[in-house]
Amino acid sequence: MIPRVGFSLYMKKLFIIANWKSNKTIKETEKWFHDFDKEIKHNPFSLEDKEVIIAPSFTLLEHARYCSSNLKLHIKFGAQDISSFEEGAYTGEVSAKQIKELADYVIVGHSERRRYFGEDKEIIKKKLRISLQYTLTPILCISEMNQILNLKSYILNHEIIVAYEPLFAIGSGHPDTPVNADEMARGIKKELGKIPVLYGGSVTSDNVKNFTSMPHIDGVLVGGASLDPLEFLNIVQNA
Ligand code: PGA
Repeated sequence: MIPRVGFSLYMKKLFIIANWKSNKTIKETEKWFHDFDKEIKHNPFSLEDKEVIIAPSFTLLEHARYCSSNLKLHIKFGAQDISSFEEGAYTGEVSAKQIKELADYVIVGHSERRRYFGEDKEIIKKKLRISLQYTLTPILCISEMNQILNLKSYILNHEIIVAYEPLFAIGSGHPDTPVNADEMARGIKKELGKIPVLYGGSVTSDNVKNFTSMPHIDGVLVGGASLDPLEFLNIVQNA
């Protein structure tokens, strides 16, 4: 018999991350978990080689965690953003120390933050630094290779996840090609070493496997398609 540990050598661990963006109320979150759970219990499958992470709004994090642990789902949580400041007099900001109570991961530098909230290299550096200081694993989103090169000295030798998300693919229904995405992932690993690199942009249950089966891609960051619990479950299952 082949020992299990031997088997796992051939399996890469996949990260399947849901970015709910500014969607869902508390009630809708409850329903999402209820429907996700109903389906997974109806049709059980192993999550052993997959890390499923949900990144809801700050207002939902605590209740989402409560729903997930009540239902005994093996889901981890992430925040969608983080303050670049420590705790203190920064009205409207949510600090790393506060996030750390509720999440293990944090999305940093999403293109929507760069575009609508003016996040630049300096802010992203601060957010990366404070995430790492509080042992929150940053999921750094980039759309071009030069964004990695700019931040390289900050992230080298740290536990970090990078998500390659080309701008044209986000929310457009037009994903990048798996070959292109894999080439980017390979380039990112060449710069940063053996860190997990994900693909994001119009991922669905129909195309997810095309990405996760590529040699350098370690998972996906899913926006729109993660809002529907059954579609998201299909993504997790098909990945
Ligand atoms: P999308 O978003 O899956 O809706 O394209 C991805 C993202 O913005 O992270």
